[in-house]
Amino acid sequence: MHVPVCIIGGGPAGLLLSQLLHVAGVPSLVLEHRSRAAVERRIRAGVLERGTVALLGRAGVGARLHREGLPHDGFSLALDGDAFRIDLAALTGSHVMVYGQTEVTKDLIAAVLDRPLLQQGCGLVFEADRVGLHDVNSRSPSVTYERDGVTHTVTCDIIAGCDGFHGVSRHAIPDAVRTEYERVYPFGWLGILADVPPCAPELIYSNHARGFAMASMRSATRSRYYIQVPADEDLAAWPDDAVWDELAVRLGAGGNAMVRGPSIEKSVAPLRSFVTEPMQHGRLFLAGDAAHIVPPTGAKGLNLAAADVGLLADAIIAWAGADETALGQYSARALARVWKVERFSWWFTGVTHRFPDTDAFGRKMQRAEIEYIRQSEAAQRSIAENYIGLPA
Ligand code: APR
Ligand code: PHB
Repeated sequence: MHVPVCIIGGGPAGLLLSQLLHVAGVPSLVLEHRSRAAVERRIRAGVLERGTVALLGRAGVGARLHREGLPHDGFSLALDGDAFRIDLAALTGSHVMVYGQTEVTKDLIAAVLDRPLLQQGCGLVFEADRVGLHDVNSRSPSVTYERDGVTHTVTCDIIAGCDGFHGVSRHAIPDAVRTEYERVYPFGWLGILADVPPCAPELIYSNHARGFAMASMRSATRSRYYIQVPADEDLAAWPDDAVWDELAVRLGAGGNAMVRGPSIEKSVAPLRSFVTEPMQHGRLFLAGDAAHIVPPTGAKGLNLAAADVGLLADAIIAWAGADETALGQYSARALARVWKVERFSWWFTGVTHRFPDTDAFGRKMQRAEIEYIRQSEAAQRSIAENYIGLPA
């Protein structure tokens, strides 16, 4: 079976790439190794930059997002419970959209599966196991996978590695040409999802002496909260009441209206910054978490994946029109943005979290930085332009 583009990974990056190529008339096959139910059960972040919203619209999956998404013109930053607002709209003339990544993924899966009669060998395969990439540094790469005990071989012209941090694609780039950069943070985020109304109309990022906390939401009736915990924290140490109690302390006044309720999801996630260079090798192109990871503090994971996919989709569409220029420039152009977003996410994590090895002086520096931001429109504008999304 031959398909122009074989996409490894059916998360937001792989699905969005497939859909953007489809609307441009370029067939692709997406190989996802989990089940549809498993992919649609994942709880991830929920803030979309304007560029991501535009790409989802171009992919034909913007309708529910515009119907159910919550436009946010600002968010609050708090120090030991004393909060101030970053007015995104006044500072940038733009805003972000609050809409869960879970919903983005569901919308994309529905669109891919709803395509008119699937062209032979194209579309989306769930539960594709033992995916193997072959001859990526040649003009005729191929991908093998197993499903229902049958081994399939897909020849293609381009392989898109969209299989996330734990995927196989990155490792198809030889160690001799690949460089990895990593920062693992000495803490994680414990997240709780509950069907209770949000405690505030906008997101609150709180730097507290006991550790970072955040108030977010999925809708007017579903809230998402996080507290910083040690990286190896045992979830069993945090029954719902303990989480709600800690949130009430760390959010300060911002948490006064917090409504408690039973968690419908609760988990601990590690925080890391990670980049692999280059993001292409031969006819293999990496996009999203397969190439980079950011700490969730800046709400950049999905948005950076979407930015990669927008560049890669345009480059592949040009290649389909016999112009390979953009394809050759993909990695350099993607990395130019990746490193700026890595910087913002790393910096914002440093300003808002409690680092175990921070001494009294370091804590004073962190407090002074937040007080400077509180009083400086220039500092707030810098945060705002990164938060709404750097220009393409
Ligand atoms: N073969 C096929 N599919 C694979 C393989 C493999 N060997 N390994 C992983 N996958 C699948 C995963 O099951 C997942 O569905 O690839 C997909 C990768 O999706 P994500 O990890 O969500 O990465 P990405 O699509 O780049 O989206 C980035 O997702 O995890 C969040 O915080 C991240 O918000 C960011 C966004
Ligand atoms: C979320 O709603 O899950 C969320 C929002 C903003 C972040 C991180 C997570 O920075």
